[in-house]
Amino acid sequence: MTKKTYLTRYLVEKQRLNGHISPELRLLLEVVARACKRISQAVNKGALGDVMGSADSANVQGEIQKKLDIIANEVLIEANEWGGHLAAMASEEMEGIHVVPNRYPQGEYLLLFDPLDGSSNIDVNVSIGTIFSVLKKRDGAAVSEQDFLQGGTQQVAAGYCVYGPQTTLVLTVGDGVALFTLDREQGSFLLTQEDLRIPEDTKEFAVNMSNQRHWAPPVTRYIDECLQGVDGPRGKDFNMRWVGSMVADVHRILTRGGVFLYPWDKREPEKPGKLRLMYEANPMSWLIEQAGGVATDGQRRILDIPATALHQRVAVFMGSKNEINRLISYHAEA
Ligand code: AHG
Ligand code: MN
Ligand code: MN
Ligand code: MN
Repeated sequence: MTKKTYLTRYLVEKQRLNGHISPELRLLLEVVARACKRISQAVNKGALGDVMGSADSANVQGEIQKKLDIIANEVLIEANEWGGHLAAMASEEMEGIHVVPNRYPQGEYLLLFDPLDGSSNIDVNVSIGTIFSVLKKRDGAAVSEQDFLQGGTQQVAAGYCVYGPQTTLVLTVGDGVALFTLDREQGSFLLTQEDLRIPEDTKEFAVNMSNQRHWAPPVTRYIDECLQGVDGPRGKDFNMRWVGSMVADVHRILTRGGVFLYPWDKREPEKPGKLRLMYEANPMSWLIEQAGGVATDGQRRILDIPATALHQRVAVFMGSKNEINRLISYHAEA
């Protein structure tokens, strides 16, 4: 019988065998995984539970919140605030940070999350997910928003959970990417793939084509060449996929290759892009890099981008190495 490795065993081995993570970080990740299980149960209820549709509130991004945005946010806060492993949390759905209340012990970690990614897909039964990133706070001083403003290379853990046909947790602590599938009978995440590797070449791109006329020339050039297929300079045909949930598109890329693009858009020139650096681009970029891919904003490695605000936005190009490097070269030639 093959050895069944549950998430706990995987994390204990990372902690014990190569001291890659501390006991507190292991506890944090187990608590996040448990919270994702609870969110998965709420998602699976659908119309049978009071989880569909919009709430009558907007978030700091100016987006109308879905009920599940709020539910997932609350599940993550309630699950994590009493454990003593973290000092504070930040979320797409919260303007400032949530500091662990004085009645609980504070730990050294900071947890950032997009509690429900792909909100526009909630009511149409398409895969959605939760994205999370873990940083360490500075020693000593009381925790503040400033503690969260660390670049992507400072992450100590990053991952996401996809609520799709399977509920899968994908995680890195800097030692490769591991994929866990939720065994609903046991209620446990079972290791089903380890050391994911993204093929360096691909014939599949993911971008919202309806925005094509608003892109900068390097992006237009890259996609035009893909669309020309065998008759164009690429000499091969491409396929396109766009789910509208970053977790689902990135999961596909981590499992079979491809590129994901969310470019700058000239309709809002002051915004570098739609996606958020701290709890979407940074965690996904670390996973992509740990699996042998490349993640850039066109000019800079995403993980090297200085963090200046909790909800700062960034252009995102990530996935198969040779394709993203081509996109980078087109930006350099522009
Ligand atoms: P969120 O639902 O957390 O706000 O994120 C949605 C993001 C991302 O998941 C997805 O790739 C992108 O928005 C889709 O944007 P469009 O609807 O503009 O295609
Ligand atoms: Mn999102
Ligand atoms: Mn979200
Ligand atoms: Mn949102």
